[in-house]
Amino acid sequence: MNSPVSFDVVDNIGVITIDNPPVNALSHAVRAGIQSGIREAAAIDVDAVLIICAGRTFCAGADITEFGKPPKSPWLPELVDEIEASDKLVVAALHGTALGGGFEVALASHYRCAVADAAVGLPEVKLGLLPGAGGTQRTPRLGGVATAVQLMTSGTPMPAPQALEAGLIDHIVDGDLKAGALQYTKKLLADGAPIRRTSELPVEAGAAELVAGMRAEVAKRARGQHAPLRILECIEQAVTVPFAEGYRRERELFTESMQDPQSAALRHVFFAERNASKIKDLPKDTPQRDIGTVAIIGAGTMGGGIAMSAANAGYSVQLLDIDKDAVDRGLSVVDRNYAGMVKRGKLSEDAAKACREKIRGTTAYADIAAADLVIEAVFENLDLKKKVFAQLDETMKQGAILATNTSYQDVDAIAAATGRPQDVIGLHFFSPAHIMKLLEIVRTDKTADDVLATSMAFARKIRKVPVLSRVCYGFIGNRMLRVYMREAQLCLLEGGTPESVDTAMEDWGMAMGPLSVGDLAGLDVGYKARESLPPEERGDPKVTRVADLLVEAGRLGQKTGAGFYRYDPDTRKRIPDPEVVTIIEQVANEYGIARRDIDAAEVVDRLLFGLANEGLKIVGEGIAQRPGDVDIVYIYGYGFPAYRGGPLHYADSVGLDHVLASIREFGKRFGAELWTPAPLLEELVANKQSLADWQEHNNGI
Ligand SMILES: NC(=O)c1ccc[n+]([C@@H]2O[C@H](COP(=O)([O-])OP(=O)(O)OC[C@H]3O[C@@H](n4cnc5c(N)ncnc54)[C@H](O)[C@@H]3O)[C@@H](O)[C@H]2O)c1
Repeated sequence: MNSPVSFDVVDNIGVITIDNPPVNALSHAVRAGIQSGIREAAAIDVDAVLIICAGRTFCAGADITEFGKPPKSPWLPELVDEIEASDKLVVAALHGTALGGGFEVALASHYRCAVADAAVGLPEVKLGLLPGAGGTQRTPRLGGVATAVQLMTSGTPMPAPQALEAGLIDHIVDGDLKAGALQYTKKLLADGAPIRRTSELPVEAGAAELVAGMRAEVAKRARGQHAPLRILECIEQAVTVPFAEGYRRERELFTESMQDPQSAALRHVFFAERNASKIKDLPKDTPQRDIGTVAIIGAGTMGGGIAMSAANAGYSVQLLDIDKDAVDRGLSVVDRNYAGMVKRGKLSEDAAKACREKIRGTTAYADIAAADLVIEAVFENLDLKKKVFAQLDETMKQGAILATNTSYQDVDAIAAATGRPQDVIGLHFFSPAHIMKLLEIVRTDKTADDVLATSMAFARKIRKVPVLSRVCYGFIGNRMLRVYMREAQLCLLEGGTPESVDTAMEDWGMAMGPLSVGDLAGLDVGYKARESLPPEERGDPKVTRVADLLVEAGRLGQKTGAGFYRYDPDTRKRIPDPEVVTIIEQVANEYGIARRDIDAAEVVDRLLFGLANEGLKIVGEGIAQRPGDVDIVYIYGYGFPAYRGGPLHYADSVGLDHVLASIREFGKRFGAELWTPAPLLEELVANKQSLADWQEHNNGI
């Protein structure tokens, strides 16, 4: 077999070239190849060694196909030790992204140069891991404690110029990397630069105090995640004990991380996200339609955010609303949002201006007739949406994709209002649409393949995470949310308070408790949605009775300063409100519910098993393509902690038999009609199968 690594000698410098497309992952063959290059250089008469990559990037990390398999020698720690121990000067030449193990190879080299648009990073934390080949020990020695903490606990790559300033790299190469790197190496030799082993470098003065001072902040940001704190411990070791000892501790903590369910969850999310963009019955070579211009109908909360998402990705956008006032209002919110992004340093002033200029307002359908994609985001009302789609059918050019951002309405019924249902699709964004990553792509039976393929590609282009759903009330996310919110509100009636229910979920890991989310979204949204349903579909009225009374009292949530909580007008901090507890007690009384103590564990089980059960129904019915898709929806759309892997991975990790037994018990206590087990759950438990197994064996990718 041809090695992906070659060795040749240029001007008496041994050049190790890695060529393992697409990202020069550090597979076993690559590691072995680098090792043999280092050994060959040691054996022959060369003055120095250069490690460089062909293709689009320096090594961008481990080979994920080797994940979970026993390491094969040389494993990465052995390799980096051998690189660092070399008696010949070793220089790494970086381009693209030197990530994870790739950057650890560079850290173990004696000097590092890079092209200016390269970036370096140690993103292991995103998989619940830590750099396990000396990265935690070498980074603080080269770049200092603050840089090391930032780089490794965030996992965000650092651009080369910043890495140069921090000391993580030594030189920026202008022009061709190989020529520049050879020249740099010759200069080092000519200057008599010493072999500089990173492990032997001293740490900065006061480093231990610096680490201690950052602990509280890292713990706060980590919110329940183990990996960032393990990384901090490694950095602490790096600056307080000899290298060899710190290195050993890094290895121990790496092994602990590998076995931690949090890492299993994050690795599940990583693969689930990749799978979610694959549509099982869509041929790979499905053609796509060209999307150059986008029109949006409705310049409200969602329309403005969607316009920004599209404009930020370079599309020309037209934003249409019923009259000039509505358009101006929408555009002024867009202006405010861009100004906010500039203020928070998310976007430069010039970039914000360029994006903003791509968005134009209009009130005339004739102006948008030539758009390639139109996304409707008017009020959530089926008749109105049908009218808008009939108008679009009349106006839009043939071949345009007609999308609706509806949260609940029947996309088939909307499509039927046009003479071209094959061009109609749901593109369900989440609020705030310019920030939230999730995009549910709702396919009807009639949606054309190329419309689907184009929509998936469009989602990625505007940097969203697309998940495919079939049509049902609320699609994947909001259908599950109904059960979750039902249980939150029942817990309130049975003895909880908004604070106790929210805190239970937040302590478990949710970004925000369910009642606070209600207040943020606006309680009137659900109220109106319920009103528009036929009474038999509204569910048990007692569930939403408290929310209804709050809305009727003008407490719509944060926007009116009060909902399930009161809000401090300056800080927007929630404040528990005894008036709300009185309302809850009244409603409980009205329905003859005896209030009792509900502990956090009961709240967590009812809300999460409710969510998982509905998710399994959704998978069983074929609404979602696979369990991982449901997890991605919750992680990217609903603040579910990624380190728990999503509602279905979580159910799998606690044991489906336990989940089913709990659901049956809840059925006995709270009503079997609320707690019908998902047929798929019963089937898996009967077959003693986990969801992960089931997906692998019966359902494929
Ligand atoms: N707000 C959310 O959190 C959220 C999340 C996902 C999806 N959605 C969905 O997005 C859609 C819009 O929601 P929103 O929160 O942006 O509503 P919104 O009330 O903020 O905005 C709706 C806009 O549509 C305009 N409009 C009404 N009729 C129109 C017509 N005939 N032609 C052109 N414009 C018209 C209104 O003037 C208003 O500016 C709804 O279907 C909603 O269910 C909302």
